[in-house]
Amino acid sequence: PSPKPMIAGNWKMNGLKASAAELGQIMAGYGADLRGKVDLAICPPATQLTTFAVVALGSRVLIGAQDCHAKASGAHTGDISAEMVADTGATHVIVGHSERRTDHAETDATVHAKAEAAWRAGLVAILCIGETEAERRGGTTLSVVDTQLAGSVPEGATAANLVIAYEPVWAIGTGLTPSNADIAEVHAHIRQRLVKRFGAEGEGMRILYGGSVKPSNAGEILKIADVDGALVGGASLKAVDFLGIAAAY
Ligand code: G3H
Repeated sequence: PSPKPMIAGNWKMNGLKASAAELGQIMAGYGADLRGKVDLAICPPATQLTTFAVVALGSRVLIGAQDCHAKASGAHTGDISAEMVADTGATHVIVGHSERRTDHAETDATVHAKAEAAWRAGLVAILCIGETEAERRGGTTLSVVDTQLAGSVPEGATAANLVIAYEPVWAIGTGLTPSNADIAEVHAHIRQRLVKRFGAEGEGMRILYGGSVKPSNAGEILKIADVDGALVGGASLKAVDFLGIAAAY
């Protein structure tokens, strides 16, 4: 059976105390019907993690961080460990987002270590991969994805502890999306790689699509085979849009 889909919202560097009201609206709109069909997760900035985890308690909206350090503690000014994330009550953490890979020079090895750190702390890792515009134009998308999967997904990955997010870098925040056929090709390829490496667990791992998902294109994208949900940036900031995407199921 296909994995239960997940719609995860990545708020990136957006959200103040007052934004908990938006989370409240998301919780209010996440009724029994929707809960039966799709898991919802919100990844606020680290400053709001504790508040969001408390507000979301009992609502079944999942809360995640946007990053974690690979070490459990120590002299790493400004960083947050997976253990600290878990201590807030959050259950998920994004690792390897392209903005982290670019802005903070994270490599596949860094992401690999962060995914292991997430598991050590009992968190589910939402691990991001995806090609740049130049790589897409150069026809190397599938080999780029292969390299990222091989280098950043640790042994021990299961359907329960890992979610893959395929995010073409050129589609993030641009309003551009790959064709449905291109999304289908990459997701099928990722599935095949996961199954080859992890067997039946790979069948059950969720593969989210990310990059300019909005209510108006969610229906089309979410019905593509091997697309088990979405990682949503901009459109996750407004409850009405985020719920609109989830309602596309
Ligand atoms: O993590 C989310 C992605 O980077 C997608 O962002 O929906 O604003 O394009 P976007």
